[in-house]
Amino acid sequence: MIIAANFKMNHTRASTVAYLRELNAFISNENISDEVMIFPPFTALDRFETPANLTVGVQNGYPAQKGSFTGEIGLEQIEEFGIDLILIGHSERRHILGEDQPFIAQKFDFFKEKGFRIVYCIGEPKEVRESGIDAVLAYNFKQLEGIDLSYEKLVVAYEPVWAIGTGLTASAEQIEETLSRLRDRIKAPLLYGGSVKPANTKEILEIENCDGVLVGTASWEVESFEKMLSISKNLKK
Ligand code: PGA
Repeated sequence: MIIAANFKMNHTRASTVAYLRELNAFISNENISDEVMIFPPFTALDRFETPANLTVGVQNGYPAQKGSFTGEIGLEQIEEFGIDLILIGHSERRHILGEDQPFIAQKFDFFKEKGFRIVYCIGEPKEVRESGIDAVLAYNFKQLEGIDLSYEKLVVAYEPVWAIGTGLTASAEQIEETLSRLRDRIKAPLLYGGSVKPANTKEILEIENCDGVLVGTASWEVESFEKMLSISKNLKK
């Protein structure tokens, strides 16, 4: 299983250090063997010492080595911290920051070319979900346009927009059906994201074709994230 924490615009440099110190100890004391990914904000990046199964990644990156892109962070800045894991296509970047599919595909190609592990996010808004599974799949497949699904370092996170940060989780049936249809095209590990929390982690991880979770809100408190790691550890799948 892959258990990933997206801090979004939460945590500072100091609180990220404290979080990772606690999490490192937890992973070794509890013999956690799942793959753990942590995506802190850019300002908190550093060369962290972590157990082999914990990787720190970036929430975004500009598809250039360096250059005149005010406010952006490129490969040169990311590589300074030895980071080779990136989140691309998150719905907040698509819908709030206005990233379109060609730009997202350009980012994907750039970081693929550089050998990054890529967690690539897709997911439909509420009105699409209300139109039924075929509309949901058509929408999600559009978000795969220009993306090399055979890339060996790809992980896909299915995150319905209406379930992100809203407390609404897709039902187990909705997740199962969507993941199984996505599986027809995607051989890479498939994560689910959208209001995942300790109370629903077991049910979600037990779903066929679900290879892990991408957690926002419920990952920001380290104890809550650790609960999810324990749940995954005790799962027989
Ligand atoms: P959430 O966010 O857990 O707060 O719903 C998930 C995500 O956006 O990755």
